[in-house]
Amino acid sequence: MNARPFDLHPNGPVTPDTGVDQRAALQSVYTDPAILTAEQRHIFDQDWVMVGRVGAIPEPGDYFTATVGKRPIIIMRQPDGSVRAMANFCLHRYARLLDGAGCAKRIVCPYHAWTYDMAGELIGVTDRHGFNRDEVKGRTLEPLACDVWMGFIFVSLRQDLEPISERLARLTPHVEPFDLDQYEDRVTVHEEVWTGNWKLIFENFIESYHTTYTHKQSIGPTNPTNLAEFGPLGERNFSIHSNSYRPEDYPENYNPKLTEEETRRFYVIALYPNGLVALDPNFAWWITLEPRDVDITNARWGLCYSPHAMKGMADPSTFVEAIRKIIITATEEDKEMVGRVQEGSAYGSQNPGLLHAPLEIYLKEYKEYVERMLKS
Ligand code: FES
Ligand SMILES: [Fe+2]
Repeated sequence: MNARPFDLHPNGPVTPDTGVDQRAALQSVYTDPAILTAEQRHIFDQDWVMVGRVGAIPEPGDYFTATVGKRPIIIMRQPDGSVRAMANFCLHRYARLLDGAGCAKRIVCPYHAWTYDMAGELIGVTDRHGFNRDEVKGRTLEPLACDVWMGFIFVSLRQDLEPISERLARLTPHVEPFDLDQYEDRVTVHEEVWTGNWKLIFENFIESYHTTYTHKQSIGPTNPTNLAEFGPLGERNFSIHSNSYRPEDYPENYNPKLTEEETRRFYVIALYPNGLVALDPNFAWWITLEPRDVDITNARWGLCYSPHAMKGMADPSTFVEAIRKIIITATEEDKEMVGRVQEGSAYGSQNPGLLHAPLEIYLKEYKEYVERMLKS
């Protein structure tokens, strides 16, 4: 079997005659608060959820805070190099412990100053005589399951899910030659608030139909819609397609493992339910989505760069900055369109829109994932 079965041709072989369900989701799916509540319970509480990159927290005590659905959590680098995820509330009277990102060798609750170590174990109780000694002993912040794939951190409330490497086993061969696990994290933005339902942002990324028309000031000219290529169909937990470069814009390649085919690819990878990665031979742009309300979403994002490119380029810092600027422009372009879809969806029509086959085939697959989870 071909280890890298990315062999579908531009704009094929899925056609309007393939018989796919070409209907978009109903508008209410993006506006109904009851649907968001159900998604938090059946998706964010039940599946692996992507939260960020290990490279953002290199040293023991480095942390960032995030939310899984509604639940506040802490991701912290441990003294042994591992990464741990735990609930971000105090065991006394539930105050949120940490904010934003930083480094803390001890976690001290701002309310009554209970203290925890980096693993979340309760190691200090102020005015201790007021508490039963046996009851405060051995308490630990609630742990979440935590796993890492290609440098991306995933957490889950459930402890019984298959490891993320197993779940994404058929995706791994596509990205392995890029050495994505070694891409160096140079930019991390923990808070980028979008007006729009979280699924709209996800869906915006998993189709290249809009690229030419929306991204006029950024990637549209170099990675046009008509060069989009498709990856495997029918996967239950991810999708991958390529928003490929025009020949005159093929990126410089410093990675000897990449084939000629791969050097022109700009892979767009969707890790259901909320992780997105755009991968190129020299850099990757990633996003994790945190719904704050039915029409407000925080999109933590970052840029990481190929170690081959960083070593091989004459002036890597200029490249790092140039990509950052392009991505900021692309983000503004996407933000405007997602906001427009949210505004349009307020109408509450019962008539679904139409999906393009093949360019929006992964919206259909993602919709099936969401519906499957909501039924479980
Ligand atoms: S709520 Fe944290 S010490 Fe009281
Ligand atoms: Fe876009």
